[in-house]
Amino acid sequence: MAKTAQLTIDGIAYELPVIEGTEGERAIDIRKLRADTGLITLDSGYGNTGSCESAITFLNGEQGILRHRGYSIEDLTTHSTFLEVAHLLIYGELPSEDESEAFITDVTRHTLIHENLRQVFLGFPLKAHPMAILSSMVCSLSAFYQDEYNALDPEHMDITIRRLLAKLPTIAAFAYKKSVGQPFVYPNNSLRYSGNLLHMLFSVPCEAYKVDRDQANALDQLLILHADHEQNCSTSTVRLVGSSRANLYAAVSAAIAALWGPLHGGANQAVLEMLDQIHQDGGGADKYIRMAKDKDSKFRLMGFGHRVYKNFDPRAQIIKKTCDRVLEKLGFNDPLLDIAQKLEETALHDDYFVERKLYPNVDFYSGILYRALGIPTDMFTVMFAIGRLPGWIAQWREMINAPDSRIGRPRQIYTGETARPFAPIHKRPHSRPRTLGDPQGRPKRG
Ligand code: CMC
Repeated sequence: MAKTAQLTIDGIAYELPVIEGTEGERAIDIRKLRADTGLITLDSGYGNTGSCESAITFLNGEQGILRHRGYSIEDLTTHSTFLEVAHLLIYGELPSEDESEAFITDVTRHTLIHENLRQVFLGFPLKAHPMAILSSMVCSLSAFYQDEYNALDPEHMDITIRRLLAKLPTIAAFAYKKSVGQPFVYPNNSLRYSGNLLHMLFSVPCEAYKVDRDQANALDQLLILHADHEQNCSTSTVRLVGSSRANLYAAVSAAIAALWGPLHGGANQAVLEMLDQIHQDGGGADKYIRMAKDKDSKFRLMGFGHRVYKNFDPRAQIIKKTCDRVLEKLGFNDPLLDIAQKLEETALHDDYFVERKLYPNVDFYSGILYRALGIPTDMFTVMFAIGRLPGWIAQWREMINAPDSRIGRPRQIYTGETARPFAPIHKRPHSRPRTLGDPQGRPKRG
């Protein structure tokens, strides 16, 4: 018998269907709630709202489980490669040998970007944040492929997917080269995905550069760890923007913007900046722990806490081991790592963090590893974006292909003024307190 939940409003009882996922999580289906009752639900931050049904990623925050299409993140990071995981996420299965070869060849053949895009790069200021460049350039790609980006055409979809996977690392590396005033390095298609990325980031025309296999493998693992995380802020952005049938480049560009924020992907940069600040301040972690606990302070311990993981972040556990291994091999003695360890130990035994279940998340360690690989701090979130791209694509594709797919359009509870008569300008009050801009309320020029 189908399960239902009962809701009583003004003495009238309503039966709401309860649906169950394959891993046993249950949801009250409110799709007909407004039509039947005239009421909506209110859930700011969407902590209790399932926005879709999805077969891509399962995570259980209480038990620290993360699986893609049924495969554990531990298995995928140990046995697979980033492009294989991308195929798994987007098309539902790990590729066969033939499929894998064809997919890798396709992606590799699209790594170049249109030469005219170089001009766009040159127009950015030298110190432009690479996330600003990444988001703009990805959106610009849609101008170069506008005959082949129809979201509802499966052939357009496939070529767009391959172009995005291939070109994002090239755009990311060009953004970095621009910021350090070095010539752009073209992709080398004899290298694998992560090795090629390191090559485009770090080689220069005047010296030989050999990609270090261990570093390329560590980077590949980092990308896999970020590949998807179900309905997080940037992924929900991709789905929402894509639900209007905007092209995939535009939807991914919006997701990159969402990822940039310090409460989301920008946290990896914020962690390093925080560790650096503590280092400059003499290295004592206690003051910062106290600030993080102080309700009057806006300071948060970056890299701690997660909306979903409430025991541990399985990605953080994997990355910590890789981080230790790479640092040891590189003989990298990083004072920031000592501070990170001190913070972690103190926080793990502090009642405030224990009671709120605040554990180090993936971003706590990824920054340290990126730093050891020579990647500058403002490129960290760019690396996250490259890793998350297959997840965004997979979620967008699932949304577009879903039989009940329709434009995303939440509702609201209005709390503003009720209807009032229009006041002509000479009858309006002379002055009101200003909240924006300069004392006259004018926006700043610039
Ligand atoms: N430092 C100090 N206190 C914290 C922290 C923190 N990092 N995170 C949460 N809290 C406190 C918060 O003040 C609140 O306390 P109280 O109950 O007394 O009011 C309680 O813990 C619950 O916090 P919340 O803000 O309601 O939790 P949330 O689920 O809305 O936020 C979060 C999750 C990740 C945004 C938040 O933990 C945070 O800001 N962490 C730091 C930023 C960070 O590391 N982000 C990366 C997330 S992982 C990568 C990704 O998926 O993007």
